[in-house]
Amino acid sequence: MLTIKQASEWASEYLKKNITTSNISYLIQYGRVKKDGTNGNTLINKQNLINYYSSYLGKREIEWKSKLGEDLNWTLSFDNLKEADTTKHVHRLHPYKGKFIPQLAEYFLDSHIDDFKKEIYFNKGDIIIDPFCGSGTALVQANELGMHAVGIDISSFNALISNVKLGIYDIVDLNNEIQKITKALRHFIADSKTIKFESKLAEELKKFNNSFFPSPEYKIKIKQINEEEYGAKKEKEFLPIFLNLVKEYNIRLKQENHIGFLDKWYLQHVRTEIDFVSNLIKQIQNPSTRNLLSIILSRTIRSCRATTHADLATLKEPVTAAYYCAKHGKICKPLFSILGWWESYSKDTITRLSQFNKLRTITNQICLTGDSTTIDIIKELEKKCPMFAKLVKNQKIKGIFSSPPYVGLINYHEQHAYAYDLFGFKRNDELEIGQLFKGQGKEARELYIQGISNALNNCKRLLIDNYNIFLVANDKYNLYPTIAEKAEMQIINQYKRPVLNRTEKDKGAYSETIFHLKSR
Ligand SMILES: C[S@@+](CC[C@H](N)C(=O)[O-])C[C@H]1O[C@@H](n2cnc3c(N)ncnc32)[C@H](O)[C@@H]1O
Repeated sequence: MLTIKQASEWASEYLKKNITTSNISYLIQYGRVKKDGTNGNTLINKQNLINYYSSYLGKREIEWKSKLGEDLNWTLSFDNLKEADTTKHVHRLHPYKGKFIPQLAEYFLDSHIDDFKKEIYFNKGDIIIDPFCGSGTALVQANELGMHAVGIDISSFNALISNVKLGIYDIVDLNNEIQKITKALRHFIADSKTIKFESKLAEELKKFNNSFFPSPEYKIKIKQINEEEYGAKKEKEFLPIFLNLVKEYNIRLKQENHIGFLDKWYLQHVRTEIDFVSNLIKQIQNPSTRNLLSIILSRTIRSCRATTHADLATLKEPVTAAYYCAKHGKICKPLFSILGWWESYSKDTITRLSQFNKLRTITNQICLTGDSTTIDIIKELEKKCPMFAKLVKNQKIKGIFSSPPYVGLINYHEQHAYAYDLFGFKRNDELEIGQLFKGQGKEARELYIQGISNALNNCKRLLIDNYNIFLVANDKYNLYPTIAEKAEMQIINQYKRPVLNRTEKDKGAYSETIFHLKSR
């Protein structure tokens, strides 16, 4: 049996790496190794440590540290959490590429301390600001923790997602409107030949897939054959069946126009349904109900784009026929109706809202649409929420918790192109900091430094003197020291965090840094 200190010395020797007492405490805290001994005298069985370091989790930790540096803070990997935790309640009301997990915001905002976070930076009743609010993760967590929060985002649609997550709803009205629209949509498509065509197509697909892609036998066969060739051959074989049905039911697949996103990426019938539901939503009187239903519709149509299951994240070409799907190992089809997703997301949304309702506090949060380098925060707040504006003016803001965009990585408007087209929101692509199309070259990096430091300077006017700022960034170009200097701030600490499971495909070692800044 070893004490924590002995365990850290033993493990350092065993792995030939520096294993601190904090590393060992973390393993105990998250149940990776069992704790023995009585109060204040924690003991660990050496064999348990050996087991951990030879397990998948233990090996991954060691491997990532050797790739990314020994200063990687494994506590911030949150590898103890399940997907349901990181996407809890309203955090999954709508997809958004580039959000941080709520537990990361919570870690820095809440009132716990540990070996790494040695001070409490924020308390109940404080105001925080997130000048790159995205889908509102920090704002939602601020609410849970009893803090007020202001968010800013250049993308109107991102601001809408954030505000919808934070909205307070009349559940009866919501349910009524959802039911009304669902019923109307069902009625609208009741006699539709496309729906009949789709169910016949599903029948044919089932027969075909059972013969050529039987489950689970095909999963074994896949390893012995050339999957790509076999898939393409069967796709070709199914095409005449598909085309015959199209002819028999007289289906128009593509839309006439190819001008906007909605014209290009939706099959003709799906587009008709989208327009139908969208018009009904526009007629809803209660603005919060209307906004919430708009988000449900947007989430729905995102799942109904005419693409393959494999290309949902990065669209390639519109798909108008059945295709071999490597993800599911069979022939799949594009969607011909939004009804299924509409119903499922409506239900899911109501559940998520009621889960959040149990946790929410009576505090103020709002996301303003604007450019955080120039926006007059108080003026915009006064327009939307005068009481909150007054509170911000009097109390001032305690600090920032934010993940700024990175240089040339994501196009934040384009990822929701369908929603801009649907709602007719104005796009402000040219004001995005770190725009994708500008790349990551020297000029792009200089513009980035200027942009982020301008945003910090703009927020600084409203901060208390002894503010704390936490910025999450993958600073591979080492730009943050210059950003801090330009904002007359200093970086007083850095937490290097492993980012696990960034996407389904990319499981490689990757880290980001949480910079802690204060005034100079
Ligand atoms: C990394 S994301 C933030 C994600 C957020 N933490 C979340 O969990 O959803 C960065 C955000 O900064 C926004 N942004 C980019 N340039 C901006 C600007 N000039 N002013 C305000 N927001 C901007 C983008 O639209 C994007 O939503």
